[in-house]
Amino acid sequence: MTTTLVLGGTGKTGRRIVERLQTKGVPIRIGTPSEEPPFDWTDAATWPAPLDGVGSVYVTYYPDVAVPGAAEAIEAFADLAVARGVRRLVLLTGRGEKGALASEQALQQSGADWTIVRSAFMAQNFNESFFLEPILAGEVAFPADPDLAEPFIDADDLADVAVAALTDDRHVGQLYEMTGPRLLTWAQAVAEIAAAAGRPIRYLPVSLEKYASLLIENQVPADYVKMLTDVFTEVLDGRNAWLGDGVQRALGRPPRDFADFAREAAATGIWDG
Ligand SMILES: NC(=O)c1ccc[n+]([C@@H]2O[C@H](COP(=O)([O-])OP(=O)(O)OC[C@H]3O[C@@H](n4cnc5c(N)ncnc54)[C@H](OP(=O)(O)O)[C@@H]3O)[C@@H](O)[C@H]2O)c1
Repeated sequence: MTTTLVLGGTGKTGRRIVERLQTKGVPIRIGTPSEEPPFDWTDAATWPAPLDGVGSVYVTYYPDVAVPGAAEAIEAFADLAVARGVRRLVLLTGRGEKGALASEQALQQSGADWTIVRSAFMAQNFNESFFLEPILAGEVAFPADPDLAEPFIDADDLADVAVAALTDDRHVGQLYEMTGPRLLTWAQAVAEIAAAAGRPIRYLPVSLEKYASLLIENQVPADYVKMLTDVFTEVLDGRNAWLGDGVQRALGRPPRDFADFAREAAATGIWDG
């Protein structure tokens, strides 16, 4: 059995994919800058070694699949992977991002068996990522209008679909539009977290400029702030306010609901402060 390389294998989706593949007895290798051998998107010289003996790759770009240069890097990586004998590539992308479309095309033209997992905003941004601190502080400021709705997706669903695509031929050539089962405004999502956590947390809609200045005040590096504000400028206009059928189509079951995510995350104590 060949090895599956899981890029970003310590991140929100990658970690879950590694766990699931290990449970299935699939040999895995994690691709991040701190692994041995390292894999670093910013240094193409690190790409060949982790591909040794690899038949399938879960491709997740860092920091964001839509940033300038991402599509070129994914194209070069996919070409290298195919040249070294990789047959299957499964790419995590984002909904509504022009840059993400270019990354998807790079994968589709690689000659590999491809699957695209096109993701909504992950629920786990609230407990495993940049929304955790604001949740703990009791106020989430974000540049989404009060009536803008998002179909938050659970990272467990993304991992289930990615693992299916990595291990089952039926998903070759499929593009899965991955959303949760419900549209929620940011205020509703924060209210569900507050209810599950049992303490007051409020949502504060702010301008993009105000959001950027809050991030800078909180010592977020300037280039990361620019990346976030570029992405949010593009996608927070209602274009993603519709439900996709990716989970149902890939797995034959509905996606997990945000309320289940909130209840389970609260039970871990992560939002207790
Ligand atoms: N978060 C969302 O809501 C969302 C929605 C749609 C699409 N996406 C896409 O998902 C991808 C991952 O984003 P995420 O925010 O969810 O992050 P994440 O996967 O939770 O974490 C980032 C992962 O990338 C690794 N990494 C860091 N620097 C790297 C580098 N220079 N080269 C290679 N790997 C590196 C990290 O390793 P260490 O643990 O060693 O730092 C970690 O495993 C992005 O392409 C994004 O566009 C995210």
